[in-house]
Amino acid sequence: MEKPFAPACERNREPILALLSERFADRRRVLEIGSGTGQHAVHFAAALPHLVWQCSDVAAHLPGIRLWLDEAGLSNTPAPLQLDVNDGLPRGDYDAVFSANTLHIMAWREVERLFEALPETMSPDGLLVVYGPFNRDGRFTSASNAAFDAALRAGDPQRGIRDLEAVDALARGAGLSLLEDREMPANNRCVSWRRG
Ligand SMILES: C[S@@+](CC[C@H](N)C(=O)[O-])C[C@H]1O[C@@H](n2cnc3c(N)ncnc32)[C@H](O)[C@@H]1O
Repeated sequence: MEKPFAPACERNREPILALLSERFADRRRVLEIGSGTGQHAVHFAAALPHLVWQCSDVAAHLPGIRLWLDEAGLSNTPAPLQLDVNDGLPRGDYDAVFSANTLHIMAWREVERLFEALPETMSPDGLLVVYGPFNRDGRFTSASNAAFDAALRAGDPQRGIRDLEAVDALARGAGLSLLEDREMPANNRCVSWRRG
């Protein structure tokens, strides 16, 4: 099996790392939800060696993630966890949770489950950072995001770019407060919340 490769990860990893370097400077244990290929994990874990970076994804992605982790041979990337948000999140003491490009892929009910389960996995002062496309005030932020949303929904009507306000309402329901909504290249955003 060849390592899976997502070109977008090569393009977005430096801007995301710049934000995580600030945001996660005082963090110790990160749970990544929907690690995908594992490319982000090896890049971020190598650059942020003070963190333990715990990858996770549904079962089908784990072999590919293992290939990336094994090749990188980092000491701060434990074996990936099998994690489907429909089954809840691991009970734990993660002081940070990170997820990239997942909320528009999950069905809305799955996004709700993710946020409902966050308090089980996050420490009382935990941070959540979510990267990806979002709508603002019920509107697409670009024509390319509108086209992307149409393509997503044509493939699966349960997918689609989420409204940041609706996601923030779920976050507030889970006891999280919005810290920052940062614009990122290519009409993406990095949204940070703090528990408590
Ligand atoms: C577009 S990929 C993004 C992967 C990676 N984070 C990135 O930015 O390249 C969406 C990811 O969400 C994961 N995902 C979708 N539904 C999920 C669920 N119910 N529970 C956990 N992960 C899920 C997929 O398996 C996939 O890895």
